[in-house]
Amino acid sequence: MAKAVRVHQVGGPEALIYESIDLPPPGVGEVHIRQHAVGLNFIDVYYRTGLYKAPSLPFVAGNEAAGEVVAVGPGVTDFHPGDRVAYYANLGGYATERNIAADKLVKLPDHITYEQGAVLMLKGLTVWYLLHKTFKIEPGHRVLIHAAAGGIGLIACQWANALGANVIGTVGSKAKAELALANGCDHVILYNEENFVERVKQISRNELCDVVYDGVGKTTFPGSLSCLKPRGLFVSFGNASGPVPPFALAELNNHGSLFATRPKLNDYVAKRADLIEGADTLFAAVISGKLHVPINHAYALKDAAQAHIDLESRKTTGASILKP
Ligand SMILES: NC(=O)c1ccc[n+]([C@@H]2O[C@H](COP(=O)([O-])OP(=O)(O)OC[C@H]3O[C@@H](n4cnc5c(N)ncnc54)[C@H](OP(=O)(O)O)[C@@H]3O)[C@@H](O)[C@H]2O)c1
Repeated sequence: MAKAVRVHQVGGPEALIYESIDLPPPGVGEVHIRQHAVGLNFIDVYYRTGLYKAPSLPFVAGNEAAGEVVAVGPGVTDFHPGDRVAYYANLGGYATERNIAADKLVKLPDHITYEQGAVLMLKGLTVWYLLHKTFKIEPGHRVLIHAAAGGIGLIACQWANALGANVIGTVGSKAKAELALANGCDHVILYNEENFVERVKQISRNELCDVVYDGVGKTTFPGSLSCLKPRGLFVSFGNASGPVPPFALAELNNHGSLFATRPKLNDYVAKRADLIEGADTLFAAVISGKLHVPINHAYALKDAAQAHIDLESRKTTGASILKP
């Protein structure tokens, strides 16, 4: 029988309940997959706590995974039993098996493992669009990446470095600083101990950054704005420390005609052609060795609550997976 980790009432990690679920045959346009690896993401925490609203209760947590096609529903022609696949989709990911719309799936190339696939579809695709679409990084750009040793962070630092940027990362500990430096950061700031704005000024000789990627939110705002050169771009893409508070648009003027955006992956892969472009670019970067996918923690699916505790208490680095 299929098992899943469901949330019946939003709340703390104890809200994640591992239990049996009924799984009907795949419907029209759906594929039934047996999952081999599930990605752990901070977004899973937002849904669990209710910061992001799930459409209904109970819901199966989780937003990315990889596995093998077991059966296909009526109308599905592109996927067949035995295909190795991965996906990003809102909710439904923390499960041993599931049904999912075929148009969310991509096929995994032979050289990409299930574990890699399970952490590339949300984290990797996010880094892809942030560095190529939200702002197109080019050689010589100076970028600031907060939480540089995190799941998104380590992939973003490597890729920004490979694109020729000068990469400044912020991290919460010395051990994380070493990791960030080994994964493409040119400079690392311990933002719990040092004033990161002053350090960015010092590192850049007051030239500041072309773009700031901020998934930390509340605690790094408004400092992130002060790290940008005139007409730079503030990319607020997450809230690990809490949401960015409302602010006056005039702040962007005060800091030098800045641009600001609050993007999300859904809007960058809504068209199937965009999803395929992103996945192809990402897989090619991994297969060529340009990107290494650091999977530093693995938990049994039934231990999802412990995984959330570790993620929220900043104990994890790089990507983490749950094993069904
Ligand atoms: N908009 C999008 O499309 C999109 C898609 C995916 C993810 N995201 C966002 O990307 C960010 C990173 O996600 P992730 O899954 O890769 O997580 P992660 O970076 O692995 O974990 C979050 C990190 O944030 C830092 N942090 C700073 N203040 C924190 C606090 N008060 N509580 C907990 N952590 C804190 C910690 O690193 P230090 O100890 O080094 O400070 C922690 O390790 C999240 O904000 C997530 O929502 C956005």
